Amino acid sequence: MSDVKKLAVIGAGQMGGGIAQIAAQAGIEVVVFDSFAAGLEKCKALRAKLFARAVEKGKMTQEDADAATARISYVESLDAISGSDWVVEAIVEDKGVKFDLFGKLAQMFPDENVVLASNTSSISITEIATSAGDAASRVVGMHFFNPVPVMKLVEVIKGMQTSEQVVSRTIALAERMGKTPLPANDRPGFVSNRVLMPLINEAFYALMEGVAEPEAIDGIMQLGCAHPMGPLRLADFIGLDTCVNIMHVMLEGLGNPKYAPCPLLKQYVAAGRLGDKTGMGVYDYSKK
Ligand SMILES: NC(=O)c1ccc[n+]([C@@H]2O[C@H](COP(=O)([O-])OP(=O)(O)OC[C@H]3O[C@@H](n4cnc5c(N)ncnc54)[C@H](O)[C@@H]3O)[C@@H](O)[C@H]2O)c1
Repeated sequence: MSDVKKLAVIGAGQMGGGIAQIAAQAGIEVVVFDSFAAGLEKCKALRAKLFARAVEKGKMTQEDADAATARISYVESLDAISGSDWVVEAIVEDKGVKFDLFGKLAQMFPDENVVLASNTSSISITEIATSAGDAASRVVGMHFFNPVPVMKLVEVIKGMQTSEQVVSRTIALAERMGKTPLPANDRPGFVSNRVLMPLINEAFYALMEGVAEPEAIDGIMQLGCAHPMGPLRLADFIGLDTCVNIMHVMLEGLGNPKYAPCPLLKQYVAAGRLGDKTGMGVYDYSKK
């Protein structure tokens, strides 16, 4: 059983908010930091809404919801996460920004018991660990899935420097959070996105080439292949910017042009149509 007492989540977006929520529900004190104050407010409001809905549906008692809410604090400075014994990073999927953050985290957390985990979808854990210098053996990939409170999997990625003990502790923490951890080696995109992103990209090519309308592309994959969500709808849910970033990491890291993002997908991103999080992607969510 994991003995983590205080978990810091960096990045209060779709993933960070969900990770904070399930950690709090597992009885862990959580501190959430985001460089964007409005992101913290949005994250807090969404947690309140989700807990209220869970109580309404009888999935949670009011007492448990209040206790979980009270376990999460939101802070506007990175220094305020000090005293945590586990960090999960869930910021933008950008190598430079993540490397910079892990360099800072290594300075902030010299204690060799503190684990520095990344929720990256595709970036090399070995490279992130290198940016953490002496703390490299404490860096691990802890890849949750969206929506975090619902999806059972945590892909656990061991970088070249990650210690076995850190991997075992990551597995224990994932289980304590009610998840099923599965191992993957440190290759761009790991297993999940190595397999998923080419599917999503091909769906955008099908759309760009007029093979079918979005609803038909998604419906065909749902009804014909038993996918719970069609690939275009799923891309909107993940975030089209995140999809493009993941594909660039795989393109660069694997050197195969098949991982280049479809021009139409890049065009949506250029237009600011990032999916659910901006209210508009392939589909329009503004009226939801
Ligand atoms: N969206 C998905 O389905 C999904 C699934 C698994 C993993 N991931 C990964 O999780 C990470 C976060 O993705 P997301 O979908 O939550 O993104 P998001 O855009 O919803 O949220 C990212 C948050 O990070 C904040 N941020 C950016 N730079 C920061 C910094 N330097 N310091 C502190 N905060 C910073 C932003 O303000 C934003 O609130 C990415 O690495 C992504 O690849 C995403």
